[in-house]
Amino acid sequence: MNERTCLAVVLAAGEGTRMRSAIPKVLHPVGQQPMLAHVLRAVEAAGATDCVVVVGPDHEAVANEALRAFPEAAIAKQMQRLGTAHAVLAARDVLARGFDDILVVFADTPLIRAETLRRLRAALAEGAAVAVAGFTPADPDGYGRLIVADGRLQAIREHNDASEAERAIRLCNGGLMALDGRHALALLDRIGNANAKTEFYLTDAVALANAAGLRAAAVEVEEDDVRGVNTKAQLADAEAVLQRRLRQAALDAGVTMIAPDTVHLSADTKLAADVTIEPYVVFGPGVTVETGAVIHAFSHLTEAHIGEGAQIGPFARLRPGARIGKDVKIGNFVEVKQAVFEDGAKANHLAYIGDARVGEGANIGAGTIFCNYDGTAKHRTEVGKGAFVGSNSSLVAPVSLGEGAYVGSGSVITEDVPADSLALGRVRQVVKEGWASRLRSLKAAGKKK
Ligand code: UD1
Ligand code: MG
Repeated sequence: MNERTCLAVVLAAGEGTRMRSAIPKVLHPVGQQPMLAHVLRAVEAAGATDCVVVVGPDHEAVANEALRAFPEAAIAKQMQRLGTAHAVLAARDVLARGFDDILVVFADTPLIRAETLRRLRAALAEGAAVAVAGFTPADPDGYGRLIVADGRLQAIREHNDASEAERAIRLCNGGLMALDGRHALALLDRIGNANAKTEFYLTDAVALANAAGLRAAAVEVEEDDVRGVNTKAQLADAEAVLQRRLRQAALDAGVTMIAPDTVHLSADTKLAADVTIEPYVVFGPGVTVETGAVIHAFSHLTEAHIGEGAQIGPFARLRPGARIGKDVKIGNFVEVKQAVFEDGAKANHLAYIGDARVGEGANIGAGTIFCNYDGTAKHRTEVGKGAFVGSNSSLVAPVSLGEGAYVGSGSVITEDVPADSLALGRVRQVVKEGWASRLRSLKAAGKKK
């Protein structure tokens, strides 16, 4: 089957008014990635050699996202919403190039899996001219019904056009379709709009195929695969399903999660075997965690790399560009942004480390702040290998501490500190002996007056 060429036609011209959002529907994220990107990844994994994304007018942002997720994708514009078949025909030029398989998928169906698309393609390889994903929803209201007779798929009847008897059918159209490329254009061109919605229904391809003596097949799929998103509530439902899948995949890959239901993953989170994730951890996009690392409870990580055996949190925040080396410790209430922690370095409590390199084995004391921003620009801080920054210090960037240097607690460091030296940047302590009892006697004298 792999040798067959395959064009995926992704319909993304949806209006999404029921989302009540300024963002186009198919750009809403699930697992921190736009729905459209999920669908494009699935069609690619299902062996689509080419892809065309059908967008509505004024959908620059949708086209841009399509090209980000699938750089070779063609973009077709459907200027008027005249139905699903009309939308597919907006990509006529691409279809006419000739493909063995044509997959039609909706961009607001983010949970579609490559294996499900492959099953539709397999039905074509076995001789069907049209293959449709069928499913049995708890509530079939609104879906097209699959009319099967003599073990063959005869037609799809849209809900609005269906008779009472047809509406009693439970097997519904999930909206995914695979078409034999040799017949696709001829079938699509024959589709009319004489129906309840005066739309050009893609689903009519089934009856037309039968009429032309071709075979149509229904492939039964899980409801989650074809779960469409039209509202924010459905978006949240899709998120829940995706999270379950991602957690299950992580557990299967050897990740330990004590309370998986409380861990939020991104679709691109990469966790090695023997990583431990404690409860209530949130992974934003772009996080990789190497083996043996532990992410303690209530940590929040985005675009970060965590090395082998590192300990993160509890209550740690790793922001974009945090690169945490082997056996590093990032403790509670520590925020790291655009900073490299080399192997074995530590920042155990209450610190901000931004735009910096912290050398191997260096120790950043509690309450240390890397002052990286002067109100206009960001500046870098370099901390040498084995350096020690005493608690409650401020390192005012740009500044560097040499290898093995020490900074006394409570210092404000504004100048570079050479290797192996001690820097103190604080007011010298003054002690006034007997001062307290003098104060108390003065107060007592005052009261007697
Ligand atoms: C469609 C199917 C129905 C199926 C259901 C599954 C048809 C005619 N009906 O119905 O059998 O049970 O999906 O969810 O296909 N679109 C365009 N341009 C258009 C019209 C639609 O791009 O002119 C896109 C939409 O953005 C959406 C998809 O096609 O992503 C499906 O359109 P929609 O109007 O939601 O069809 P349904 O009535 O749900
Ligand atoms: Mg729909």
